[in-house]
Amino acid sequence: MSAVGTEIDRARIRELTAGEGEKLDERTRASRGMYDRARVSLAGGVASSYQVREPWPIYLTHGEGQRVWDVDGTEYLDFHNGFGAMTQGHAHPVITRAVQERAALGTHFAAPTEDGIAVAEELARRFRLPKWRYTNSGSEATMDAIRIARGHTGRDVVMKIFGSYHGHHDAVMVSIGVEYDRIGDRENLASLPYGAGIPQAVVDLTVAVPFNDADAMERRIERLAAEGRLPACVIMEAAMMNLGVVLPEPGYLEAVRELTSKHGIVLIFDEVKTGLAVAAGGAVEHFGVVPDLVTLAKTLGAGLPSGAIGGTDEVMASVEDGRVNQVGTFNGNPLTMAAARAGLYEVLTPDAYARLHHLNERLLAGCSDVVEQYRLPGYAVGIGAKGCVTFSPVRVVDYETFKAYQDVELTELSWLWNMNRGIYATPGREEEWTLSVQHTDEAVDRYVAVFEELAAALTRV
Ligand SMILES: Cc1ncc(COP(=O)(O)O)c(C=O)c1O
Repeated sequence: MSAVGTEIDRARIRELTAGEGEKLDERTRASRGMYDRARVSLAGGVASSYQVREPWPIYLTHGEGQRVWDVDGTEYLDFHNGFGAMTQGHAHPVITRAVQERAALGTHFAAPTEDGIAVAEELARRFRLPKWRYTNSGSEATMDAIRIARGHTGRDVVMKIFGSYHGHHDAVMVSIGVEYDRIGDRENLASLPYGAGIPQAVVDLTVAVPFNDADAMERRIERLAAEGRLPACVIMEAAMMNLGVVLPEPGYLEAVRELTSKHGIVLIFDEVKTGLAVAAGGAVEHFGVVPDLVTLAKTLGAGLPSGAIGGTDEVMASVEDGRVNQVGTFNGNPLTMAAARAGLYEVLTPDAYARLHHLNERLLAGCSDVVEQYRLPGYAVGIGAKGCVTFSPVRVVDYETFKAYQDVELTELSWLWNMNRGIYATPGREEEWTLSVQHTDEAVDRYVAVFEELAAALTRV
């Protein structure tokens, strides 16, 4: 792989970061006050550890269309979009109406409603998988999908991609966020717990392989078979989304499909991020490879907690005949189903996807031009509503290249720079932007203009 771009002066990055950090602290005093109050009764002052930020989180008040506002009254163009869940944009009138109408009719019965059928019908059409069930989050969807795969195959081992995030249950909180020197031998990557509280016995049942390397996956499967530990499933994102965006190399997904079919391993595409955001039928449609199970969440609920599992008749038979218990008090909740139905049938239409693709191409092209013009070490990459600028002198193809080349300092500066110029970006160094159907060409152009200002500041001599 050849290196691209020129080396950026590290002292300049640090100098700009210090200045931007001070500016953000100055501008977010109400957030600071709210943090002081919050941390007395909310652990860490937040509802989820992914909302933690040093020195304090930015608390929001409301959102409308492509914008959000913080408690200091600052308005931002939202490219974070609720960790990629708000492809519909904030307070979309169609979603608001559907939720209001449903709220007036009762929001929860723990009994099926017609909206849940209509949503399943549309998901079956889009994802080319006939049978669906609901959950309330992406984590629940991947947890239940793995149980279904285990129930169907009678096997215990879970194979995942090293560095991929699939939610916060034990089986998949393995081999994520690992330091470079602990990744291990590529043929035998380490199984490591992601944080405390995950039993070693569970960690040992999860085996990780590198992304974009079907041969390495095949060799690992064959070794596991020889040990009598053939996996129940391979769970993966068709395009990795939690290392920026890492696209599959040509032929990789097809090879994984063939390999898993050959060994009777259930192939799960975790489309919690990609599904409904990269195309109407997610990665299945975009890449044309159909797995045995798909998991959805985020965009599905149009801003309400949601999740779904879709599968083949054969694999979902284990749920239908009662071998696997796929259950939950709030599964198919009427309020969520009303929002999902309105989102699928009235908001995320073919025209909406054409518009999302137009916006993303404009944004990616604008960022690529800036990278080229200023000879930055990086590149713009994305699909559908999602993308990012990856600051790395070489193309990232898997977790190992990501860890070897990621520019933590520059990514942090880029986030601060955006926030101080009215671009609400996803916190966390591994994240990407998500556009909504309510974003405008002007918003995308503003993002590019702010990025160009950063490039100019970084390369100024
Ligand atoms: C690919 C993927 N799978 C699963 C999850 C878990 O979803 P949730 O946070 O709704 O539990 C996430 C969350 O970001 C995700 O990115």
